Amino acid sequence: MRRLLVTGGAGFIGSNFVHYVLGHTDHHVIVLDKLTYAGNLESLKGLPSQRFRFVMGDITDTSLVDELVGSVDAVVHYAAESHNDNSLQDPRPFLDTNIIGTYTLIEAARRHGKRFHHISTDEVYGDLELDDPERFTESTPYNPSSPYSSTKAGSDLLVRAWVRSFGLEATISNCSNNYGPYQHVEKFIPRQITNVIDGVRPKLYGKGENVRDWIHADDHSSAVLTILDKGSTGETYLIGADGEKDNKSVVELILKAMGQPVDAYDHVIDRPGHDLRYAIDSTKLRTELGWEPQYRDFEAGLEATVQWYRENESWWRPQKAQTEAKYKEQGQ
Ligand code: NAD
Ligand code: DAU
Repeated sequence: MRRLLVTGGAGFIGSNFVHYVLGHTDHHVIVLDKLTYAGNLESLKGLPSQRFRFVMGDITDTSLVDELVGSVDAVVHYAAESHNDNSLQDPRPFLDTNIIGTYTLIEAARRHGKRFHHISTDEVYGDLELDDPERFTESTPYNPSSPYSSTKAGSDLLVRAWVRSFGLEATISNCSNNYGPYQHVEKFIPRQITNVIDGVRPKLYGKGENVRDWIHADDHSSAVLTILDKGSTGETYLIGADGEKDNKSVVELILKAMGQPVDAYDHVIDRPGHDLRYAIDSTKLRTELGWEPQYRDFEAGLEATVQWYRENESWWRPQKAQTEAKYKEQGQ
């Protein structure tokens, strides 16, 4: 049995991870989450109370973080400001949470000599041309484009420096775009599914040629557990499931799954600095640690996600109008 502190566990990927860990191991979990607009306690309903505890708080709160890190065996750090579009409107919270928050956590992990796993993104590598035969690997140089991805890149470099300078027992993973239940309606897939439910046409940025490398959140969780168990200190592992799709194809699949004409969407103003393509080569994780994704059929995973949003309207409805009002102001 292990005691884990999971930061950001009320968010999309963190909550999926908590459900996954409690369902697949006998670990105990404490979630530390500030419950920003992106955190939702409803995502943590029904968990076994003898192995799960929720603490509302900020990862930049040194004394709270120190106490919690001291009480567990390992920290899995998901908490972040995570949305690129928000980072273009107001970058400051991204610096506070992603940089200072990560610094606060690694300092506590160093003081207490605790195992640390840092969750990061493929966006730290910038983007690829559509016809580039190469994909991102652990040795691809950092080249982030947005305020969000640059703060994630900065947080990765802090963790690397704490390993080298202070011997922090840390690993890092950089994952591609996740989909699945509990994702905020500001993000691409849930936004379009809930638009269709509301009788609104999906909104595609620019021409819709941009490519993302989709992975189910459960596959991300199983990869993180594998790294926690078998990963080597100081190592970075890329997590991906060979799920490259352009945005136009994803919107068409959503419309098809929801019984709509596949061309019933609108093109809207593109995101400034919009990364063209992400693609992950996860050979290292697969060959060195023996991980394999379980969700290999994107269309089936997407249909299950559509079904989840249809069945859980009470989960997403409170955020929908405000999110769409913000996009409307930006012409998106
Ligand atoms: P999210 O926005 O859905 O959730 C973030 C969570 O962190 C929320 O519950 C929020 O309340 C919490 N939080 C924010 N600031 C905090 C603070 N200062 N203190 C404590 N809690 C705070 O994000 P997500 O999509 O689940 O992403 C989780 C992590 O995974 C992030 O580190 C992100 O960079 C990384 N990641 C995301 C994706 C993806 O596709 N969404 C892919 C790769 C990596
Ligand atoms: O690659 C991993 C990253 O994936 C994570 O680090 C981020 O936290 C996560 O938000 C995600 O970033 P993206 O910017 O790729 O995700 P988003 O859901 O915002 O957009 C996915 C693609 O869809 C992107 O090319 C922009 C486009 N898009 C998005 C929205 C919200 C649209 O075409 N229309 C939309 O309405």
